[in-house]
Amino acid sequence: MELTNEQQQILNGEKGETMAKVMQTLVLYGQTFGATKMVPVTGEMGHLVTSFGLGVMKPVYELMDKLIADGAVSGQKFTVDPRPLDKNVPSDILKNLVFRKFMYSAQEPYDAQLEKLGLVDKTGYTCTCYLDQVGNKPKQGDVLSWAESSAVVYANSVLGARCNRNSGIIELFGSIVGYVPYFGLLTDEGRKATWVVEIKTSTVPEAQVLGSAIGMKVMEDVPYIKGLTNYIGTELDEKTCAYLKDFGAATASNGAVGLYHVEGLTPEAKEQGEDLIVKDPRTYVIDDKELARVKASYPVMWKNPDAAPKLCFVGCPHLSLEQLKDWTEQVSRGLKARGLAKVTVPTVFTAAPGVIEAFRQLPQAQTLKDTGVVLSYICPLMYMNNPLAGKMPVITNSNKLRTYTTARYYPSAEILDIITGGGRK
Ligand code: F3S
Repeated sequence: MELTNEQQQILNGEKGETMAKVMQTLVLYGQTFGATKMVPVTGEMGHLVTSFGLGVMKPVYELMDKLIADGAVSGQKFTVDPRPLDKNVPSDILKNLVFRKFMYSAQEPYDAQLEKLGLVDKTGYTCTCYLDQVGNKPKQGDVLSWAESSAVVYANSVLGARCNRNSGIIELFGSIVGYVPYFGLLTDEGRKATWVVEIKTSTVPEAQVLGSAIGMKVMEDVPYIKGLTNYIGTELDEKTCAYLKDFGAATASNGAVGLYHVEGLTPEAKEQGEDLIVKDPRTYVIDDKELARVKASYPVMWKNPDAAPKLCFVGCPHLSLEQLKDWTEQVSRGLKARGLAKVTVPTVFTAAPGVIEAFRQLPQAQTLKDTGVVLSYICPLMYMNNPLAGKMPVITNSNKLRTYTTARYYPSAEILDIITGGGRK
């Protein structure tokens, strides 16, 4: 790999042995993927995926201590994925004991390490770091060192930034040294679509099922999606961005998509059109039947498939402010229509701390409180990822949560119906 003088000096140890090891790790990572050079990270802020202080991750904490002690901290401030714990989220004594004493026993010291390494501040815990209320929004063409799959696919596709699907720690190393290896989605060639996806549904496709279908079909490839603007328009306004956020997270978790182009909508597709498509791409046509097939293929992981849901999560990835307002109005209206005051399934809406703060200034905040829905900044996946929560019948409209846990997927309209007293069909 070709290195600049400065990069070679870092590798030779001129900025210390720890910095040299950080650089060496990135170089080896790049060589594995055929990178030809290292390029500067130009995004203003980093974003880390590892936000949870799992007791068993001792080597990570030792590594963090070493980086901090040797001054190899992030050259840029960063946000980080959501926290795993929030005492407002419905739980019980046993779960609290497992969460705090066993699973996330290292949470407090790990939070302190993150602050020393460059965490922006205590409000920086969210996977939707690119929302206006959070402020970590890359510009088109920015080179990033991120790993959170839902944020990477959003930054690449909707914002036109450039980032590979890195792993945890590797992304921190990129922020520390200020360079990332040049391969894959950083290159023009790697951003070309090898699939053309044609949307031919009778109504607007559910974002999370459409993303799931495309993710499972194209896996880590880049799709060029035709026909979607017939349903979601050609403007990247708040509603459309929220749709693409949820759609993208499903492509990235049900498959391994790091970038998609939507004809007539996403920045590179608007600029380059079909020039973004390779010669002889593969094609995938999505109609109502195909979406129904994909949805019907999701396994039910509950011990008792007929159990009544005990918990509902909405907001994975975290909800935008508009989504939060919209859900609040819909839940309130749904309850009124059935003469109910509170949701009939304990329900948690999750959003970034900055979004929650903005929402609390609005009249809808009281409306939501009155419905009994809990508003939290946690990551539902981290709540679910243990044997105790795993046994609970949890419902969600998140395809990412469905993929990684035992939570059962329902489209948003059905979730709304269930939690406002309509029961499960
Ligand atoms: Fe975000 Fe956690 Fe879901 S990081 S995308 S809320 S799994």
